[in-house]
Amino acid sequence: MTAVGIDAIEIRTGKLQLDLPNTFAPKKGEDPEKYTKGLGLEVSSFPDVYEDIVTMGANAAKRLMDRKGLDPDDVGRIDVATESAFDHSKPVSTYIAGCLEQVYDGDFRHANKGERKFACVAGTQAIDDAYNWIRAGRNRGRSALVIATDTALYERGDPGEATQGGGAVAMLVSEDPSIVELSTEQGYGSMDETDFLKPNQQFPSVDGKRSVQVYLSRMREALEDYEAVAGPVSVDAVTYAPFHTPFPGMVRKAGLFAYRHITRNSPVEDELAAAIGRRQPRETDYDSRDAYEEAISEYMDDLKEADQYREWYAETIEPTLGLSRVVGNWYTGSVHLARASALRDAADRGLDEEFVGRQLLIGSYGSGAQAEIHSETVRDGWKAEIEALNIDDQLASRYDLSFEEYEQVHDVHDYDKSVDVEEFTTPEAEFVFTGWGRMNERTYDYVE
Ligand code: CAA
Repeated sequence: MTAVGIDAIEIRTGKLQLDLPNTFAPKKGEDPEKYTKGLGLEVSSFPDVYEDIVTMGANAAKRLMDRKGLDPDDVGRIDVATESAFDHSKPVSTYIAGCLEQVYDGDFRHANKGERKFACVAGTQAIDDAYNWIRAGRNRGRSALVIATDTALYERGDPGEATQGGGAVAMLVSEDPSIVELSTEQGYGSMDETDFLKPNQQFPSVDGKRSVQVYLSRMREALEDYEAVAGPVSVDAVTYAPFHTPFPGMVRKAGLFAYRHITRNSPVEDELAAAIGRRQPRETDYDSRDAYEEAISEYMDDLKEADQYREWYAETIEPTLGLSRVVGNWYTGSVHLARASALRDAADRGLDEEFVGRQLLIGSYGSGAQAEIHSETVRDGWKAEIEALNIDDQLASRYDLSFEEYEQVHDVHDYDKSVDVEEFTTPEAEFVFTGWGRMNERTYDYVE
C-alpha cells in the first residue's frame, strides 16, 4: 500500500507579540512565574491589523506551494480547519483560494474546498479527510492542502487570556510523503461536553478547570481505543509524543497520564516499582472509587519525581513544546506546531537517517469534546523539509507590543468592534486584509 501522509509543512505566525512575564503579568498583578512555570508560556503571537485567519493561512500556503514548486492544478482539495471563522456559510478555504489565485497562473476551480469544525481537533480531522480521499483513489494524483488557522482570543479578563495566540499551519497531504506517513489505525474518545464553546459568539465561554479534566479523560479514552486496534503502545517505540498544546502546562499533565497508561503491565512498571516502592494501584484492590483515586493521585505524585519518568518526559514530550511556549495557543494548528517542534528538535540533535522509520504518537484534542490518537512514521525527506522552515526568522522579527497596544490589537480583531488602529509592521510580499466588499465579505490583496 502506498504511504500517505504529510509531505510539507509551513508555519505562519502573527507578526505581533505580547511578552507574558514582562508585559502582561505586571498589568494583571500576577507573579510572572504563573505564566512561565505554571502555564509554561513566555510569549503570545497576535496578528497585525492587516492580518487575519485568511492572510495567515494564505501566506503559509503560498510559501509551501512556492517551495514545493506547485501549481493550483497540483492541488485537488483545500480544507481549512478553524474555530475563528467570520462567516457561517462561505468557508475560509474559498477566501484563501481566492488569495492564491491572485498570484498563480491557473485556478482551484476543480479543487474540493471545505471548512472543518470541531474545536482544535478539526486540523487533524482535515488531515484525516485528505488521507481518506487519497486512499479512496479520488485524488487523481493530486495533493490536498490542509490549513489550520486561528486567532485564539478570549474575553479580556478571562483566565484563558494568558493562553491566547494567532497563526496558521499549512500542510500538504500526499502519496509518498516526505515528512511522515500516517497510521491507518486511529483511536477516538468523544463525548457531548460543555467545557469550551462559542454559541454564536467570537470569544469562548470556558469552564477552564473542567476543560482540563475533559482533555485528560477524552485523551485516555482515545489512547485505549487506539491500542485496541494498533496494540499496546510501548515507551521505547515512541520517539516523540506531540499533543494538542493549549499551553505547555496542560501537556505536562497529559504526559504524566500517558506515561502511567503506557507503562501499566509492562516491564517498565516493575522497574518503576523499584524506584517508587509500589506498582500502580488497581481499582479492584480498593473498596471504593474514592480510595482508589486517592491512591492513584499519590502514585502520580511519586511517578512525577521518578528519574525514569523525568528522562522520558525530557526526551519525548518537552521537545514538542518549543514553539508553543513562544506563540501561545493556535487552536487547530496547535498539535501541528507540536509535531513541527519535535521534528525541529530531532534536526537540532543532529539526527538524520537514523530518525527515519521512528514513531510519533500524535494526540489531538478539541473541546466539546473529542480526542484522537494516531501514530506517524518518519520518512526520509523529513530533515530537508523541516530545515526549510523560516519560523525562527518570523519569530525574531515580531513587533513587541506594550500592554496598551495589546488592548488595541484585541479590539481590532474583535468582530463586534470597529476601531481604527495603525498597523505596527509594514507588509511585504504577503497577502493583506484590505476591508469589506459590497456584501460585507472580507477583501484581500497581495502586497509586493
Ligand atoms: N509559580 C509557578 N506556578 C504557578 C504560580 C507561580 N507563581 N502561580 C500559579 N501557578 C501554576 C498553578 O499551580 C497551575 O499549575 P497546576 O495546574 O499544575 O497546578 C498553573 O500555574 C495555572 O494556574 P491557575 O490554575 O491558577 O490558572 P488560572 O485558573 O488562571 O487559569 C486555566 C488556568 C483555567 C487553564 C486557564 O488558562 C484557561 O481557562 N485556559 C483556557 C482553557 C484551556 O486552555 N483549557 C485546556 C484544556 S481545553 C483545550 O485544550 C482546548 C483549547 O485549546 C482551548
